[in-house]
Amino acid sequence: MLAYEIGERDNVDSWRAVERPVPTLRDSQVLIAVHAVSLNFRDVLLATKSYGFPVAGPHIIPCSDGAGVVLATGSGVTRWKVGERVVGTFVESWIGGRQPHDSFETQRCGLLDGMLAQMVFVDQNGLVAIPENLDFAEAATLPVAGVTAWNALFGLRPLLPGETVLTLGTGGVATFAIQFARAAGAHVISTSSSDAKLEQARALGADDTINYRTHPDWQLEARRLTGGRGVDHVIDIGGKGTTARSVASVRPGGVVSLLGGMPGERIDPMALLKTSAILRGMNVGSREMFEAMNAAITLHGLHPVISRTYAFEDAKAALRDLTKGEHVGKIVINVPAISR
Ligand SMILES: NC(=O)c1ccc[n+]([C@@H]2O[C@H](COP(=O)([O-])OP(=O)(O)OC[C@H]3O[C@@H](n4cnc5c(N)ncnc54)[C@H](OP(=O)(O)O)[C@@H]3O)[C@@H](O)[C@H]2O)c1
Repeated sequence: MLAYEIGERDNVDSWRAVERPVPTLRDSQVLIAVHAVSLNFRDVLLATKSYGFPVAGPHIIPCSDGAGVVLATGSGVTRWKVGERVVGTFVESWIGGRQPHDSFETQRCGLLDGMLAQMVFVDQNGLVAIPENLDFAEAATLPVAGVTAWNALFGLRPLLPGETVLTLGTGGVATFAIQFARAAGAHVISTSSSDAKLEQARALGADDTINYRTHPDWQLEARRLTGGRGVDHVIDIGGKGTTARSVASVRPGGVVSLLGGMPGERIDPMALLKTSAILRGMNVGSREMFEAMNAAITLHGLHPVISRTYAFEDAKAALRDLTKGEHVGKIVINVPAISR
């Protein structure tokens, strides 16, 4: 079968296409014919030795997020049948409740293989059913960006109708957050470096928009737009100077979900004390969250935003594309059907 390996992690071109034998199933595993994979900024970090968590050697398969069809099941598998449409979870060991202590060891494409291959084997617990209204490419966008947006809005202090959500940028997580927040009856403020992208954010459901290039102190604009009160949730993607501004944007007791961080960034503890803000680190989310999100996607007929789709042989071009930051939503790679 065809697959990519992550290679020496020298630069974004370090992925290499290889022929691999068909994986051998263990009792609790499911063999998946992968149809589509989506990229996350994490894939750039992993390809450039910049990822701050445990990673395996050069032969590991890249890309955590993939969707496909069950081809075969191990003798102990009870959750899945051949032919079912499935998408992998990001943290295989995080089923529900609080994040388990070993979650960084069971992330897909950390120490475990990723999904950029014609066939992968996955523990039966590390899969969820694809929502009926989504195709494989759409389903492949869900595991990291979708579940992270869901966890940010509903995982700690669930968003209420009428509350205000501030999303930063127009990438994968932000576009999901706009859609989920709108579906929940919230008011959405979106930021971007580009007015054209802000138009797309409005089309997705953003009520107000702020260009963070023309308004570098966008926290003041967010306060102005909420009549001085501040927002209830911020989804902070972790750019230069964003965290202090996010904390300055929230109302008393508001939640800042922190997805990334710049080295050396500092937060004034007094700023947190003054607002009683909750600053919360995040690591995607659990399978339970994924399933709850899928129910909402089906109920509301939501469709993930796919910016561009690449052929399998152009996978490296897709990764380079992600580094340019021109996309809105997600970048997807189609995987050719396997003939066994
Ligand atoms: N901890 C976790 O659980 C977790 C999970 C998922 C993602 N993440 C991290 O969260 C970040 C976003 O992920 P993603 O998948 O949405 O990435 P993405 O698709 O690459 O989108 C990133 C977007 O961030 C925006 N941006 C860049 N600098 C910004 C700044 N200074 N202020 C506001 N927006 C800025 C840009 O939007 P515009 O082009 O519109 O300006 C860009 O399109 C990445 O760093 C990723 O590694 C963390």
